[in-house]
Amino acid sequence: MARCVVTGAAGFIGSHLSEALVSAGHDVVGIDSFCPYYSVEQKWGNVKDLLLSSRFDLVSAPLREVDLRRRLEGAEWVFHHAAQPGVGPSWGDLFAAYLEDNLLTTKLLLEACVQARVSRFVFASSSSVYGSGHRGPVTETAPLSPMSPYAVTKLASEQLCHCFARGFGLRVIILRYFTAYGPRQRPDMAFSRFFKQISKQQPVVIFGDGRQSRDFTFVHDTVRANLALIEAGVTSGTFNIGSNRSTSVLDAVEIMARITGARPQIEFEPKAPGDPAQTLADISRARNLLGYIPSWTLEKGLAAQWAWMKQSRLQQTTDFHLSHGAAPNVSDAPSNR
Ligand code: UGA
Repeated sequence: MARCVVTGAAGFIGSHLSEALVSAGHDVVGIDSFCPYYSVEQKWGNVKDLLLSSRFDLVSAPLREVDLRRRLEGAEWVFHHAAQPGVGPSWGDLFAAYLEDNLLTTKLLLEACVQARVSRFVFASSSSVYGSGHRGPVTETAPLSPMSPYAVTKLASEQLCHCFARGFGLRVIILRYFTAYGPRQRPDMAFSRFFKQISKQQPVVIFGDGRQSRDFTFVHDTVRANLALIEAGVTSGTFNIGSNRSTSVLDAVEIMARITGARPQIEFEPKAPGDPAQTLADISRARNLLGYIPSWTLEKGLAAQWAWMKQSRLQQTTDFHLSHGAAPNVSDAPSNR
């Protein structure tokens, strides 16, 4: 069993990953700054079960304030998820936070990993590094043309990782996630917003014409890719972690309407700057080298997200109305644990 460090452990993917690692018998040190980019209460909810495990140790502080030498001691795997996420806000004054959290902090962590002789460094990157203009599924060798300042920081972080691999022999693995969704999804992301709008009987607000499409990837599938790295003993490489299916935003809203039993009105707002027209992952490399096979359909995954939103105490204590539809049955959904 490995000793693992997960940064961003209270976040969306980071908390699911930490749970899966602990369930698989690994020891996990989770680090999270609990920054208020979105509800800190939601983040504490994400780790509440983890805190019951003797295999999980939580450090709640910004990475730059953590005694990394101590926390990384004996760590074999570091999964770096802590970041300033979100495409839209990266255009404004908040860009300083993207530089700080995505670049400066990543460099600090990479230095500490070299000093601590960490065996593997896994960087959580993003499909946004590819930008637009690709036809069909993109392979990891496709040209990279980020369309937003956020995407630039993700690509620059990838390059920082490669510098440390070349300069110091750090074993680096890059996972490029494609629009992860599911329980605990960040509230600024499309599906969280749409479900909330539907539950409040408000119009669903779509940026652009809704025909932009995404390779939406269920969070348990992204987590399984991480566990597969350990199982396969992977030492390096860049991997697309997607579902290999692209769905338009309009079609996704239609599925959400079926799940909730609502008939939402749709309001169209101008296209968001930096929003790629399509993302679609070629996952052959992950399939061949990691045995990665995404198993969640969008219908099942959205039903699971809706069920979580309805259950979540956080939503119940705010103004989340359960006036639409019956709870979907997700008991037969595949699980990562
Ligand atoms: C998401 C994450 O926010 C990024 O952090 C991540 O790096 C990226 O996925 C990735 O995996 O590469 P995005 O694909 O824009 O970025 O995901 P959503 O925020 O869920 O948006 C999906 C689509 O819905 C976009 O076209 C967006 O413009 C649209 N959208 C979003 C709306 O139409 N209305 C909204 O209220 C929000």
